[in-house]
Amino acid sequence: MSRIAHVNGAFVRLADAGVHIEDRGYQFADGVYEVCLVLGGQFVDMDAHLDRLARSLKALEIAAPMSRKAHEGQISELLRRNRLRDSLVYIQVTRGSAPRNHLFPTGDVPPSLVMTARRFDPAVSNATAKRGVNVITQPDIRWGRVDINSLSLLPNVLAKQAAAQAGAAEAWLVRDEAVTECSASNAWIVDDSGAIHTHPLTNEILGGVTRARVVRCAAELQIPIVETAFSLEDARGAAEAFMTSATQLVMPVVGIDGVQIGDGAPGPVAIRLREAYVNSLNLSAESLN
Ligand code: PDD
Repeated sequence: MSRIAHVNGAFVRLADAGVHIEDRGYQFADGVYEVCLVLGGQFVDMDAHLDRLARSLKALEIAAPMSRKAHEGQISELLRRNRLRDSLVYIQVTRGSAPRNHLFPTGDVPPSLVMTARRFDPAVSNATAKRGVNVITQPDIRWGRVDINSLSLLPNVLAKQAAAQAGAAEAWLVRDEAVTECSASNAWIVDDSGAIHTHPLTNEILGGVTRARVVRCAAELQIPIVETAFSLEDARGAAEAFMTSATQLVMPVVGIDGVQIGDGAPGPVAIRLREAYVNSLNLSAESLN
């Protein structure tokens, strides 16, 4: 079955989908996005994703492409047409197409909305989480408003590519000795007392939707949470490390820059939090257990 994309209100075959070459997303990365997880046909944290999308749009003064209710309907329709139960939905909104000019276009230029859905394999994610992954560190060279989920991801792309070339799964980003987050996920460590540490919600990180759910899970499990920046040294000497995102859920980290974390296997706190995260979704299907 061919994949179906949504482009400005129309559902088209992915192979035929396109936007104008003067789309400002293409020319200026002038737009925002969301990546959302769907498990067992159930959309995970739709409200939080659409809230963050609205916040990102507002911060860049881009109009919403449609009402919230209509957007939710279009997302459901996208999933229905792609017949996917476990998937990642990509939502992108740009300032629209207009002759290239750094200034915002004047007149009636509607924002453009593009959405795709692709298969997500829970079994692969689970198998990876059982082994844990290695990461490297990279300097955080991004702009000062990475709390906005903007399309301009070049530093993230370069960092992730460096990780892949080093045989690692992700790049942890370091600014002024502190770990901010990762190229496409939030970074966490567990200290010797069992408390979890993650960077506070500032303009130096993207406030992850997964991060928020994991914070709630940790509170329920009475795991102490310290939302204070931690250093690279803290990370290398941590009892455990892990990352969170819509694509990785809770992913244990077993090595940073070739330094083994803990005993080199996924730690008990990360494993508990991954289980708690999945349980908190109340999935009807057993897709991630
Ligand atoms: N990335 N930090 C960064 C820089 C991210 O790009 C992401 C998400 C996160 C985690 O956010 P969430 O928990 O809402 O997925 C943190 C997505 C998945 C991506 O760009 O593919």
